[in-house]
Amino acid sequence: MNTSMDTTQELLKFNHLYSWSAFGLVTILLFFISSLRDPLSNIPGPWYARWTGLVANYHWVSGRKPSYIHELHQKYGPIVRVSPREVYITDLEAVRRVFSIKNEFPKTKWYLDLVPFVENVFTTPDIVRHRRMRRLISSPFSESGLKAFLPQIEQKVDLVINCMEEESKTRGVADIYKWWLFMTTDVIGELSFGESFRMLESRKVNQYIADLQTNGAMSSYRSAFPFLFQFYVRLGISLPFFDKAREFSVREKNYATESLQRHKDLVEKEGLDKPTLFTKAYEAQSNESLTADELRDNAQGFITAGSDTTSNTLSYLVWSVCRNPEVKSKLLRELEVLPDGFTYDDLRHAPYLDRVIDETLRRFPIIPAGLPREVPKGGADLCGYHIPAGYTVAVQNYSLHRDPVAFPDPEKFDPSRWENPTQAMKNAFMPWGGGSRSDLLRTTSRKAGTSIGDGSVLQSFS
Ligand code: HEM
Repeated sequence: MNTSMDTTQELLKFNHLYSWSAFGLVTILLFFISSLRDPLSNIPGPWYARWTGLVANYHWVSGRKPSYIHELHQKYGPIVRVSPREVYITDLEAVRRVFSIKNEFPKTKWYLDLVPFVENVFTTPDIVRHRRMRRLISSPFSESGLKAFLPQIEQKVDLVINCMEEESKTRGVADIYKWWLFMTTDVIGELSFGESFRMLESRKVNQYIADLQTNGAMSSYRSAFPFLFQFYVRLGISLPFFDKAREFSVREKNYATESLQRHKDLVEKEGLDKPTLFTKAYEAQSNESLTADELRDNAQGFITAGSDTTSNTLSYLVWSVCRNPEVKSKLLRELEVLPDGFTYDDLRHAPYLDRVIDETLRRFPIIPAGLPREVPKGGADLCGYHIPAGYTVAVQNYSLHRDPVAFPDPEKFDPSRWENPTQAMKNAFMPWGGGSRSDLLRTTSRKAGTSIGDGSVLQSFS
């Protein structure tokens, strides 16, 4: 009896050993075959990037991806593999090709995962659609186009400076991050929908502002784990974090719908006829070259992309100036001589302010993470490697802006480096992404910067 039990156990043990060895062998074989077929196998990068993008995703959701990728560039060079299907580049010739005006490398589907079920000019991977939408909304962003909006912008800037002054008198400090966000939110409301969100009047952080502040974190989770989010939505089950994310998405959509409705009411009931950033888009919806959903999705994009980008940049600008006494006194000297009631045109002769803005955009680019693009049909030869069609190539300005050749001592906040910018600096400077450009920051911060220049607000932060 004992002998037969022993034999059975021996056999089972042997079977287990046999199964595990077979499993191990098959796995090694599959790994071996897949690496033979792996078209990116010769691109430098950490060993695990060949098998998984989880490490990059971990850094993405923890807000450290730009510095993680930068470290990889420093270790491996101008092209680095970060996941099985994604490479990052810093070589400027390759960067120019990827972001060429011909738009041959479309945005990847990752953009759609940032804001699921919303497709607008920021997120669409469809080149034809992107071109059509861009035509409808881009003309007001030229310097001359923005001039029409200057009175509204200036009025908000005056208001925000008052708010900051009052708060710093009563509290001894002013929460500039909050005030800039209120201001840019109001500006984008006024410019896109004909009416401000009145945050500078209400002066309270409401659900809308709280949602704007959560947007970045929420988008990173949605894009890092798109399958989980889609799975959850399809199953319709209830899970605490996902429920919050869903409620957040519903509110985001509602803000856009309500803003468009407010604009419609203003036009129909109060005869509003001033131009907005959306004037062409509104017309396009009337003649059906833009659907109601497309209009709403773009409105949603403007609400989020138009406010915290500018407010965060302005916050970094004030913070950097206050931390650098030399920069601060130089800037104040330039601004003190401006006439009372100066206009935007007066600020054209404030070159140091311009340099401070450019240095802020270089040192603290508000979208520092990679902008992923899909390699088109036929593949692409970049940095001496062939990348097949369908793979992702990304560029992050965080690394371009820290190129020590273009920007010696790159971590230093030094506006004077922009006095005579070299071609290398101009080529590596990409705060607006490849090709796209928004002048709104320049317009608001010129005026805001000068208002700060009267000394009272700036000194209270010093
Ligand atoms: C400091 C302020 C801003 C910065 C640094 C900034 C940065 C960027 C970047 C990096 C992109 C490219 C994204 C990509 O290619 O994936 C982008 C796209 C865009 N931004 Fe901004 N942005 C700013 C303010 C604004 C404002 C105020 C608006 C107005 C609503 C705006 C409208 C757009 C639009 C429409 C696009 C999409 C362009 C396209 O794909 O054709 N941005 N922005």
